[in-house]
Amino acid sequence: MKRFFVLIIAFAMAFSVSNLSAQSILSPDGDLKFTFKLNEGVPTYSVEYKQAPVILDSRLGFYLNGAEDLLDGFTVLSSEQSTFDETWEPVWGEEIAIRNHYNELLVHLEQQATERKMDIRIRLFDDGYGLRYEFPRQDGLTYFTVKEERTEFALTGDHRAFWMPGDYDTQEYDYFDSRLSEMGAIAADHVSGNASTTRFSDWGVQTALTMKSDEGIYITLHEAALVDYSCMHLLYNPDTKVFTSWLTPDAIGNKAYMQTPAKTPWRTAVITDDARELLASRLTLNLNEPCALEDTSWIKPVKYMGVWWELITNKSTWAYANEGNVKLDLVDFAALKPNGTHGATNDNVKRYIDFASKYGFDQLLVEGWNIGWEDWFGQHKDYVFDFVTPYPDFDLPELQKYANERGMRLMMHHETSASIRNYERHMDKAYQFMVDNGYNSVKSGYVGNIFPRGEYHYGQLMNNHYLYAIKKAAEYKIMVNAHEAVRPTGLCRTYPNLIGNESARGTEYQSFGGNHPHHVTILPFTRLQGGPMDYTPGIFRMDISSFVPSHNSKVLSTLANQLALYVTLYSPLQMAADMPEHYEQYIDAFQFIVDVPVEWSESRYLAAEPGDYVVIARKDKNSESWFVGGVTDDNARTMPLSFDFLDANKEYVATVYADAKDADYATNPEAYVIYKGKVTSKSATEIKMARGGGFAISIVEATPADKGIKKLKKK
Ligand code: NOJ
Ligand code: CA
Repeated sequence: MKRFFVLIIAFAMAFSVSNLSAQSILSPDGDLKFTFKLNEGVPTYSVEYKQAPVILDSRLGFYLNGAEDLLDGFTVLSSEQSTFDETWEPVWGEEIAIRNHYNELLVHLEQQATERKMDIRIRLFDDGYGLRYEFPRQDGLTYFTVKEERTEFALTGDHRAFWMPGDYDTQEYDYFDSRLSEMGAIAADHVSGNASTTRFSDWGVQTALTMKSDEGIYITLHEAALVDYSCMHLLYNPDTKVFTSWLTPDAIGNKAYMQTPAKTPWRTAVITDDARELLASRLTLNLNEPCALEDTSWIKPVKYMGVWWELITNKSTWAYANEGNVKLDLVDFAALKPNGTHGATNDNVKRYIDFASKYGFDQLLVEGWNIGWEDWFGQHKDYVFDFVTPYPDFDLPELQKYANERGMRLMMHHETSASIRNYERHMDKAYQFMVDNGYNSVKSGYVGNIFPRGEYHYGQLMNNHYLYAIKKAAEYKIMVNAHEAVRPTGLCRTYPNLIGNESARGTEYQSFGGNHPHHVTILPFTRLQGGPMDYTPGIFRMDISSFVPSHNSKVLSTLANQLALYVTLYSPLQMAADMPEHYEQYIDAFQFIVDVPVEWSESRYLAAEPGDYVVIARKDKNSESWFVGGVTDDNARTMPLSFDFLDANKEYVATVYADAKDADYATNPEAYVIYKGKVTSKSATEIKMARGGGFAISIVEATPADKGIKKLKKK
């Protein structure tokens, strides 16, 4: 009898252990299944979507420096399952309410031989999962140095991928569209000449990486809540079809420094069989912490112009004088001879303010306003800008007053030249200077090699700097738009004063040889998954040599495509990037930029295929108006469009801005048509998009004055 009893207990224990070593959870809608499994002591996971495998057995763990790795020899101590469902309101966003609904599995692991504890937390949403490592406070593990993280994503096939090469310092690449198996050869052919990419394996890619399987399943790999850790790239092994995490190193080659209690960012995958759901996914935001700021009343979306495109196109200069070697503390700028090409002069700034205020813009960015641009680039300089001293021909108080009197403000510019030691040293003074002079937003930038030397743009030290700048800015009620910073991972949920980032190839490259037309059909599925981008659309004059004869570059886009970007590339910060004189030339088309809002209550993803086309409708937060944008790649296409998203009880007037019949990004990019017609929720139409083209529509409730307007007809 006694023996029998013991046997039953043993069986029950074995049952419970095997139960714990392989556990599955389902997404709230049941379509996704996430399985965690200890494979002879090695933590692994796999994922199924609609009963078919999407991620095969993939390992989890760490290689450590100076301590035993956290890769194997684990047992499961216990685990917990829970469900979470909330709806939260973002300060700004693509809609006014976001549902955050997931099932969670938390697995408590112990590496038996070392008694070190590591937890794995998994959140499974209807549209994907996030998993992260957590290290509880414990005696056996206090400080540790990550040599490499080993989080794998084992794929089921040779998917089509929208990718850019791995690089610790820049994301300003055109995307490649190829099979996974072709990435290595393409990288070797096209990017091996670039010094910063040769530091990296040819097989490395950056996230967010979007793939499509032959079965039509879309998978986007990225990360969420990148805090106090280095940014993750992915290394691909074409033989095993496995992506493995590859973290950005620091100057001495280490990948991350941890002190328990600690956690990593979330490793995420959005998984769906409808590309529009990738655009509608809020998984990255949901995996970030709620808003950390008590008062957010000062955070407001911004539509702005800038003394900028004329600098980028070499029409004028950031620098005031033609000096070479400049030490800020030794040079008397008032005594320097002006070079005659300085862009940020009183007269020029006033000219922009006159135009921008006439059309209701909120702010004017002025770059090259402050001393230091004579000698700012490429020297690894420590003391490079002071962020508080204007050039002699830029009368700041007078210009800010001029802007204020016209209902606008100036927008600050802090180019740091990647010298973060210098920026942090000046930061409090620089932000206080902004407050004292009526600024509430700053465009910051990190061009060039990082100082301290040897650090990379996406390492832990820099990521901590970017967040430090955002938090410090919040203390001064300043909104931040950081260029060249690490790609966003949804931190704008926690710190909504982070209203923009560049962190990808923006419009500036249209002046440096052009952006491939498919670029804007890939960005929403990749870079924008982490947060809004300051893409700076709205260029109307496509041949740059037509206004700067010495500068040969063409904007590879039609004018209607430029308009569409205000809707298809979501951002609470939107720039009308071209110059007043170019807008004057096409003032009827400029009306769309004037009308399009930067705050939305609702967004509908009408049609989407990465690398091909994107069509989105959004509703203005402050009126009943809707705006639609559509873009195509380098193929012309006819897009059917139904207006069924409109309120069924209302009649509207639609104004369509479309490519002219003979428009083409390469041969006739500025040709557009504008036509109007009445629409209701039952209306439908078709719109032709040229190669590199697109369309934009504003849809406003009809008034009695619109009586004479006919039903919308296709052109
Ligand atoms: C690169 C930024 O992307 C661009 O917008 C800016 O004008 C220059 N750096 C100078 O700061
Ligand atoms: Ca840039």
